[in-house]
Amino acid sequence: MHALVTGGAGFIGSHLGLRLLRRGYQVTLVDCFTDNYSARLKQTNLVASLEAGARFIETDLAVADLESVTEGVDTVFHLAGQPGVRSSWGDAFRTHSRNNIEATQLLLEAVRGTSTVRRLVYASSSSVYGDASRYPTPESEACQPVSPYGVTKMAAERLCTLYGQAFGVPTVCLRYFTVYGPRQRPDMAFTRFITGVLTGEEITVYGSGNQVRDFTYVDDVVDATLLAATQEVSAGSVFNVAGGSNASVNDVLTLISGLTGKPAKLRNVAPAPGDVHRTGGDTSKIRSALGWQPATPLSTGIARQVDWVRDTLANS
Ligand code: NAD
Ligand code: UGA
Repeated sequence: MHALVTGGAGFIGSHLGLRLLRRGYQVTLVDCFTDNYSARLKQTNLVASLEAGARFIETDLAVADLESVTEGVDTVFHLAGQPGVRSSWGDAFRTHSRNNIEATQLLLEAVRGTSTVRRLVYASSSSVYGDASRYPTPESEACQPVSPYGVTKMAAERLCTLYGQAFGVPTVCLRYFTVYGPRQRPDMAFTRFITGVLTGEEITVYGSGNQVRDFTYVDDVVDATLLAATQEVSAGSVFNVAGGSNASVNDVLTLISGLTGKPAKLRNVAPAPGDVHRTGGDTSKIRSALGWQPATPLSTGIARQVDWVRDTLANS
């Protein structure tokens, strides 16, 4: 069993790589340390996997020799990409487009040419829905993203489905809903909120803070991703991976203050363009097809992320 994890130095990819190694997979991690946050943090993310025996290839998927990167691989987990909803406007769109759409198409072409790959799991996003017409939102909802990032994730997901239909490339797309937990990216809400509460620094809240997210704990996301790689599903399938929390930003801030015993100093600013009012994923399809359901309550997951942020602050 030889797994390739693209974006292996990132938040979710580093958790996935470690879990695969613990399951006995031979693991190759690929990353090129893009500058969405510091390379030092990404290198720290890699340490445990490298110690556990992962092979690491530092290369950019958009220019790499992907035939050699995928050689001998039976399962591809494609998590490399330019994340971030609010940062995808203006000049940044070019980077989102390159790392989310172009890199995915090149990888799909390479996988199409191999005989060894049995499954390619793509890290899609709840952002493909935009402001949905129904909650919880099923996979059949029309995709109407409201951020440039969401447009690129929708395009990449569609490419995966197309390569499944046209060439039998065994793709599965997972629409992850706002993932949190240890190693969460520094631009994301929980890392910023917990850091602000622990250091006493001001926290920026976009809009009223009443926006709701279906926050999903990273270990649950890894569980779903492994099931999508190993269970029987038809090429081109799409599944929601949603934690079931349905909490607002204000709810989360209250939970963090309660867990740390410290107040949050808040500054409300204008709503951020590209942010949806609410996400909420219907998980009945993934439950019946793959047997997955979220296992980590929001308060448990946040407590683990608080511990991680505390350690990170203490060691910085
Ligand atoms: P992350 O930024 O921590 O990880 C992505 C990694 O991909 C980074 O380490 C980056 O250096 C690497 N990368 C980007 N472009 C590359 C390229 N061209 N070649 C090689 N490596 C490249 O982000 P994350 O939060 O771990 O997200 C992982 C994936 O999951 C992304 O595709 C993201 O769109 C998707 N996703 C994330 C969330 C979430 O809540 N974090 C939700 C939905 C979907
Ligand atoms: C997250 C990821 O960043 C995307 O990569 C991913 O594709 C998306 O989830 C998804 O589910 O598909 P987002 O929901 O914006 O995007 O996650 P956070 O950055 O954690 O923000 C959550 C909420 O907190 C948003 O409403 C945001 O406006 C708010 N927020 C964030 C603040 O109020 N202040 C901040 O400093 C940061």
